[in-house]
Amino acid sequence: MLSEKLQKAFNEQINAELYSEYLYLAMKSFFEEAHLKGVANWFDVQVQEEHAHALGLYDYVHERGGRVELNAIAKPVLEGKTPVEIFEQVMRHEQLVTSKINALTDTAESEKDRAAVSFLDWYIKEQVEEEANVRHLLSSLKMIGEDQHALLMLDRELAARKYNAPVIG
Ligand code: FEO
Repeated sequence: MLSEKLQKAFNEQINAELYSEYLYLAMKSFFEEAHLKGVANWFDVQVQEEHAHALGLYDYVHERGGRVELNAIAKPVLEGKTPVEIFEQVMRHEQLVTSKINALTDTAESEKDRAAVSFLDWYIKEQVEEEANVRHLLSSLKMIGEDQHALLMLDRELAARKYNAPVIG
């Protein structure tokens, strides 16, 4: 059984992952409207991954006999008008999610819940990968700068990204 305190922290993380899904859905629209279908596809995969992250936590709360409480998801706000600015926001957002996962793991540790700490290890590793992917894309976009041909090449590359359902836990 999860402690009340840890259950609340898990529910907050479910909301944070659903917000990530919503934010990336808004960013997908930005790139659809900019006719960069490949970048939009990259965000589509992100949307599905964030959904899976939320459901992984949701299922775990149930598995531990806890209660899931779904709260309102905040309106996503884009903080940029160019691909680089949007990806800078993605970077800041993933760093924020990493800090939230770390804080959730700290709570699991302070509640002496070894099973939850072990479960959250997958999320800690996933965040390393998430941040690395975004860092790589952001640096590519910065190198591309105003080169429209290079941007179209990157767009073509990102069109090939496919969603692979993660095995969580
Ligand atoms: Fe679920 Fe992108 O962190």
